[in-house]
Amino acid sequence: MEKKINSGKKIAATKSMEFIDPKKIIGLGTGSTVNHLINKIHETFVLNGQLITAVSTSTETTDLASSLGINIIDLDQVDELNVVIDGADEVDPENNLIKGGGGALLMEKIVASCSKQFIIIVDSSKIVSNLGKFPLPVEVVQFGSERIKDSVERLLVSLGYQMPKVTFRRSETNKYVTDQHNYILDLHLNEILDAKALSLGLLQLVGVVEVGLFMDLASKIIIGDD
Ligand code: 5RP
Repeated sequence: MEKKINSGKKIAATKSMEFIDPKKIIGLGTGSTVNHLINKIHETFVLNGQLITAVSTSTETTDLASSLGINIIDLDQVDELNVVIDGADEVDPENNLIKGGGGALLMEKIVASCSKQFIIIVDSSKIVSNLGKFPLPVEVVQFGSERIKDSVERLLVSLGYQMPKVTFRRSETNKYVTDQHNYILDLHLNEILDAKALSLGLLQLVGVVEVGLFMDLASKIIIGDD
């Protein structure tokens, strides 16, 4: 199963190369599927002497891309991105996504929202009829984070979720800290009832920075399956 997922990720990453113009700045998402893409960019362009410039969505992506000779620049140095390619944790039939499994949702959403085309690369296990089996990541500030978690739980109950489980994302020893120095709450909902209402409600809570629901953003979904 793991092997099949990995080859699906590779197939999707390879296909997405068709949408890259090496003369234009590329937006690179985060995660194992994007790592396949970064390796492909290295093999296809960098090793052939082509200078590739990209905007990154995480330290993880910056480290890998830089180590493979891709020039990473700051988003603020770019007016508009032609294409951003990223992975996802779930994709529904309307191309709405859950993202943030790798903890990079805030930077990913900012970069995606600056892009003309936001292309998602996934293996077929990510395709679902309803979002929500994958715990929904919500980035929150560190200050007062236990109280923010309480208010998230209260909101979920008011929206009709029965006994919602909300947990802090953990690193080996402590709460996981994002590249922007925030925490992540994972919302174990099983099924998301109304993604728009949930997203709006969460974004109105003080201390919530961003929500891992990406709605009306993806322009293309590439699904890899062998
Ligand atoms: C990181 C993400 C990733 O794109 C998502 O978790 C998919 O990861 P992978 O390609 O490893 O399955 O949203 O924040």
